[in-house]
Amino acid sequence: MKTRIHLICAARPNFMKVAPLYHELSGSDWAQPVLVHTGQHYDVNMSDSFFQDLKLPEPDFHLGIGSGSHAEQTGKTMIAYEKLCTEDKPDVVLVVGDVNATAACVQAAAKLHIPTVHLEAGLRSNDRRMPEEINRILTDSIADLLLTPSPDGDENLLREGIAKEKIVRVGNIMMDSLELVRPRIEETKYWEKLSLKPGEYGLVTLHRPSNVDTPEKLEELCEALVKSAKEISLVFPLHPRTRKNLEAFALLHLLEECESIITTEPLGYCDFMSLLFAARLVITDSGGIQEETTYLGIPCLTRRDNTERPITIALGTNQLVTSAEIPQKSSDILKSEVTDGRVPELWDGKTAQRVARAIRSLAV
Ligand code: UD1
Repeated sequence: MKTRIHLICAARPNFMKVAPLYHELSGSDWAQPVLVHTGQHYDVNMSDSFFQDLKLPEPDFHLGIGSGSHAEQTGKTMIAYEKLCTEDKPDVVLVVGDVNATAACVQAAAKLHIPTVHLEAGLRSNDRRMPEEINRILTDSIADLLLTPSPDGDENLLREGIAKEKIVRVGNIMMDSLELVRPRIEETKYWEKLSLKPGEYGLVTLHRPSNVDTPEKLEELCEALVKSAKEISLVFPLHPRTRKNLEAFALLHLLEECESIITTEPLGYCDFMSLLFAARLVITDSGGIQEETTYLGIPCLTRRDNTERPITIALGTNQLVTSAEIPQKSSDILKSEVTDGRVPELWDGKTAQRVARAIRSLAV
């Protein structure tokens, strides 16, 4: 009998963490990966296109949870996933990242005494105003096996009193996804479709509640982008939350009236990564993009007060900025010829193999 492993995915940043592991486990003789999509993200360009790009099959189970407040999303996911666990009886449940489904599913499974694994464990922004930080703390305090991407993850967990035996450093699984589809990313050349040239534009993504949910903050950000766009064209794929708020606060026109800012719908993995590969700089509040820019050696300005990924600053190409600092910092990047940065250890495209080994030792 193969070990039945539920791989939980819910929202856009989860798909590239689950895909390499799904492929690794499907090729093994001991594991049967089962894809469970909770449905937190449901639009074609927030979900389905990632399944196609990352060559994932249709999910085995789709819980169809959809949008809602945090408690609604978390509660509905726990109810639906507890029922699925009771019926499908997985041997192991693996959750990734820090979205609401991560914390919901780990709780449901643990109370049914199913062994649980958290991939991307130990990250801490030390900012409990972020919903993701609450999800991380909850998940790490419950899961049986904690797989970390970098040494700071191990240190945070040990500081919180987690037993050393539960922690395994496996590296960054997102680099596996990137390497898995690198040839297609390189072929895509999405910048051509926008009439841009490699190295001659910046790429922007912003969607955190702390940046886009209040009119004053969002307006300050838009004004900063308009200033930066005087020196370099900017491509800004709009997350649904961001678009909704730009429209609600009547700010979208600030971006649309600026000739050197191109707004687009959210992009699929290959399209987005092809833009990222050739970007001169990045302005973001995403967690994953801080890591991808470090891996690719692209200067990254992160519009946040803190980061749960400090290694991207200590070793990589990332720096935290306020909105007001964005124009000057982007100008500084454009003037400098070299980008200093190193790739952290174990961000090598082989994380899925290490994860599979760690799960196997838990399952036997
Ligand atoms: C969630 C994650 C966040 C992650 C982000 C990536 C949590 C707490 N947050 O935030 O960590 O960085 O995903 O995108 O889990 N919407 C659509 N179509 C969709 C999905 C959402 O229109 O396919 C709309 C929703 O109606 C809602 C908004 O987008 O208005 C936000 O969606 P939600 O999933 O609640 O949170 P995110 O901001 O995406």
